[in-house]
Amino acid sequence: MEESLSRLTRLAFARESNDYLHKDVDELSLVEDLKKKYGLKRVHRLDVGKNIDGFSPLIQDVLETPELLGLVTGSLTEYPENSYLRLRRQLALHHDIPPEWFVFGAGLESVIDHIARAVLDPGDFVLIPVPNFDVFENVSFRMGASLCFTELFNLRWDGNTVERLCGQMRDGAYRLLWISNPINPTGQHIPADAIETLLSLASKTGTLLVVDEAYGEYGDTPDRIRSASALLKTYPNLMVLRTFSKIHCLPSARVGYMASSSEALRRAVNTYRPMFPFSWFSLYMAQLAVLDTDYVNEIRRRNQERKDRFWARIQREDSGLHAFEFLDSDTNTLMFRHADLGADALHGFLAAHGFLTANLNRLTGIRNQGFLRMTLHGDAVNEEFLDACRKVTC
Ligand SMILES: Cc1ncc(COP(=O)(O)O)c(C=O)c1O
Repeated sequence: MEESLSRLTRLAFARESNDYLHKDVDELSLVEDLKKKYGLKRVHRLDVGKNIDGFSPLIQDVLETPELLGLVTGSLTEYPENSYLRLRRQLALHHDIPPEWFVFGAGLESVIDHIARAVLDPGDFVLIPVPNFDVFENVSFRMGASLCFTELFNLRWDGNTVERLCGQMRDGAYRLLWISNPINPTGQHIPADAIETLLSLASKTGTLLVVDEAYGEYGDTPDRIRSASALLKTYPNLMVLRTFSKIHCLPSARVGYMASSSEALRRAVNTYRPMFPFSWFSLYMAQLAVLDTDYVNEIRRRNQERKDRFWARIQREDSGLHAFEFLDSDTNTLMFRHADLGADALHGFLAAHGFLTANLNRLTGIRNQGFLRMTLHGDAVNEEFLDACRKVTC
C-alpha cells in the first residue's frame, strides 16, 4: 500500500522522528508499567509543560454547578459554535487588536500545521533557529520545504543570533521564519526589539515570521501583555500564536489561536482549519480562562517564586548536584543534563525513580548533547526530584 501514498508522505516516513514521545505511545500504560516495574506509588509527569496548579477557579466553580450537566448534554447534541465571536472580543481587548484578526484551531499544533500548508510550496526555504519546538521543522518538512537551521551559541539567544538570522535572510529567499518566544525548550524570553529587527528585515525580503508564544504568558506583566501582537498593526508578515494549553492549564480543551493583520494570511490559514476544530465545552472553558487575568498573574508569581527557591537549592555549595547543569529559564520548564551520564540513561534513571522528563537528545541543534527538560512542580516534588538526581552514580 506504501506505493499509493504521496511522495511527500513517503518522505515524511523516511525521516527519523525527533519527538520526545511518539504519537502511538500509550502514555497511561507507560506510567502504570513504570509503577509496577519499580514499585513506585506515583510517577510525576515533569515532561509536560502545562502549569501544575491547574486551571482558573472560575472554571472549577462552573464545573461544580448543577446546571453543568444540562449544558454539557445540550451541547453534545449540537455542532459547536465556530465563529468564536465572544472569545474573539475577549482576546481583542486583551491584545488590543480587532476581533477579526484571530484564527482558531485545535491547539497550536494544528494551527502550526495549517500555517505550513497555507504558505509553503515544495522547495521553499524555511529558517529555524535551533533548538526550537520540533513541530516547526516537522510540518515544514512535510510540505517539502528545505530547512535551514541557525544554531544558538551556548544555547542562548543574543544579539549575534539576530545578526546571523538577518544575514541569512539577506542572502537567501526565505519564505518563513519560525520562532518560539519564550523559546521551547530553553525557556529563554526573546526581547521585543530583537523580534522587531527581524520583522522589519523580513518585511523587505518577503519572509513571513511566526512568533509562537505558547509560553508567552510567563513573560507578561500584571498590567500589560508582552506580546509580538503589539507589532501586528505595522507588520502584515507577522503571525502571533498563543494557546490555552500551558499557563491556562487546559491542554485537553485543544484551543489555540493565531493573530495576524493580513486578511490574506488569515483566510489562507482558515482554509485548512476544519469546520469545527474543538467542542463547545472547550470554547466555554477558554472564554472563562481568558476572563481570569488575576489567576494568570498569580500562577506567574507562584512559578517565579518556586523557580527562585529551586535555583537557591541547586546553587548551594552542599547541593550534591555539581555534576548537573541546569539552564536558567523564563518559563516553568528547565533544561538540564549530567556531566557524565547520557540523556537516555539519565531519563531512564529518573523514570525509575518516579520522574518522567522530556528527553531532548534527538532535538535538532542539541542532538546527542545529553539534555532533558523538566517542568517545575511544587517545592515538595521538586525536592524529591533533586533527591533522585543526587542518587545518580555513573
Ligand atoms: C512552542 C509551542 N508551541 C505549540 C505547542 C502546542 O500547543 P497546543 O497544546 O496548543 O497544541 C507547544 C506545546 O508543547 C509548544 O511548546
